[in-house]
Amino acid sequence: MNGPIPVIIDTDIGVDDAYAVMLAFSSPVLKVLGVTTSYGNVSADDSTVNAIKILELLEKRCRVAKGEEGPLFGKRRRYSSSRGSFLHGKDGLGNKAYTLPSPLHVETHEDAVSYMAQLIRKSDTKVTLVALGPMTNIALLLLTYPELKNRIDGIAMMGGSAYGGNTLPAGEANIVADPEAAQIVLQSGVRIVMCGLECTEKAYFIKDDLEMFRLVGGSVGRFYYDMTQDYMNATEKLTGSRRAVIHDSVPVAWLINPSVIKAKPCYIEIDLSGQYTRACTVTDEFCIDRKPNAMMAFELDRDLFVRMHIEAFRRYR
Ligand code: RIB
Ligand code: CA
Repeated sequence: MNGPIPVIIDTDIGVDDAYAVMLAFSSPVLKVLGVTTSYGNVSADDSTVNAIKILELLEKRCRVAKGEEGPLFGKRRRYSSSRGSFLHGKDGLGNKAYTLPSPLHVETHEDAVSYMAQLIRKSDTKVTLVALGPMTNIALLLLTYPELKNRIDGIAMMGGSAYGGNTLPAGEANIVADPEAAQIVLQSGVRIVMCGLECTEKAYFIKDDLEMFRLVGGSVGRFYYDMTQDYMNATEKLTGSRRAVIHDSVPVAWLINPSVIKAKPCYIEIDLSGQYTRACTVTDEFCIDRKPNAMMAFELDRDLFVRMHIEAFRRYR
């Protein structure tokens, strides 16, 4: 393709989403057309405020459109996960959101789904969706505007896992939040790269990495350093390892430099009825009798991943 890849980022912006957004906007390989928000780590309202604050910090002008407040089915309640606030802080940004100026305008004019449709229609080339939270907005887009499927080049998502969960024994957070939406996305026929936990748990930063970001990244690097401290503390409590696992940067890093992950074609379905395994991304790696419907990422080149972030922070200096 000539020119940068047009992308729309759909995010429940917490700490790792904020890294993904920073990485995407730093890269000449990507052109971010818009940011849409959802519930997940925090409520859709807080997610929208966080997205606007982060874009202001990065000095990037880009429209933010607020999306769904809860999953497709079941109670249409405002949703934010308790795992989200434990890891990402009550505000979603490591309890450091208050250190960023409050946005002057929080209202967004369109809802996320119609805004995505508008951006896809207007784009000269096919658009890639980057899914960093529950799949609700994207499932609604595919259901409401099926004619736009052939204008979507693919979906690069953080979600799922082949072997185990992080929120339920078999369920990863973004899928647990809305399993039906994830199933709609996976069955849509759109090209999918799924960055699941086997890959994204290798995408971690340690103290030295964060210090490097602070050193090279000016005020952006300093904010990200501060934002990541509580996230690391919480991760350490949960797992015993002092690491900041930055799941959501993986699909963005893949779009910028595909050699950062190793993926293989798989057939993936969501278990929607299991008593203990609801939301499990049941992954057939062998595809003897079935056609693959996604590329599942298993490996990550962590050194390259870290270097890409250092390079990104340098660009904000
Ligand atoms: O399981 C990791 C995912 O859950 C990431 O998208 C993170 O932001 C949280 O929402
Ligand atoms: Ca996320």
